[in-house]
Amino acid sequence: MKIHLAWLVFPALLFGCASDDYYDPLKDYEEMDAVTILDAPSPSGVAPENQALVDRGEYLIELLGCGTCHTDGALIGEPDLSKSLAGSGIGIAYTNPLRNRYPGVVFAPNITPDRDTGIGRWTDNEIADAVRTGLGRHGPQRILVMPWQGYAKISDEDVWAIVGYLRSVDPIEHQVPNDVPAGTRTSEPFVHFGIYRTRSL
Ligand code: HEC
Repeated sequence: MKIHLAWLVFPALLFGCASDDYYDPLKDYEEMDAVTILDAPSPSGVAPENQALVDRGEYLIELLGCGTCHTDGALIGEPDLSKSLAGSGIGIAYTNPLRNRYPGVVFAPNITPDRDTGIGRWTDNEIADAVRTGLGRHGPQRILVMPWQGYAKISDEDVWAIVGYLRSVDPIEHQVPNDVPAGTRTSEPFVHFGIYRTRSL
């Protein structure tokens, strides 16, 4: 199944480089067409009794657009499908880069079952909690980038389908960069989603 994900937000690719003189944020960004079409990877080696659950999970992952953030390149419409759901080397700014020269940047992590770079060591409950509450192994999520508020009311059946599906895909070893605190310069590329209004409002 193909899903079109159109971000109704400000799609821009920003690079964390800037001169020390007058800061013109618009000089640093490039406009892009932020439409991503992503197929979730096929599950592998699923026991027949779990097939329906995993199929439902695959459907939900595509529907909810998880791969748009969690797949390398997808945020700029160039997904690396050999690394589906294995985390993004392109970050997402969580403070406004048009106001702060060095915004805070977070990198959507690897959510394939790789034990070292993904969620292979997470329990089912930890994965379900991350989806529903933004709380994960790393403690409370203070950065509201992962849109868990939109998933908070997901049914038990659906969240276990997502967990079952995430467990069923092949593990991919891929480490994403460390998050960048606001005020720190980074050379990693990032996008920024924001809400903008016309000046006449
Ligand atoms: C808008 C981008 C975005 C979308 C869409 C998104 N995530 Fe995330 N996700 C993130 C980011 C960024 C993090 C890191 C935690 C944070 O900063 O909020 C994260 C963290 C996670 C974690 C915890 C993993 C870890 O190592 O911390 C899991 C599990 C997860 N996401 C699963 C999902 C699933 C399943 C979906 C779809 C239902 C989804 N995400 C959709 C951006 C996203």
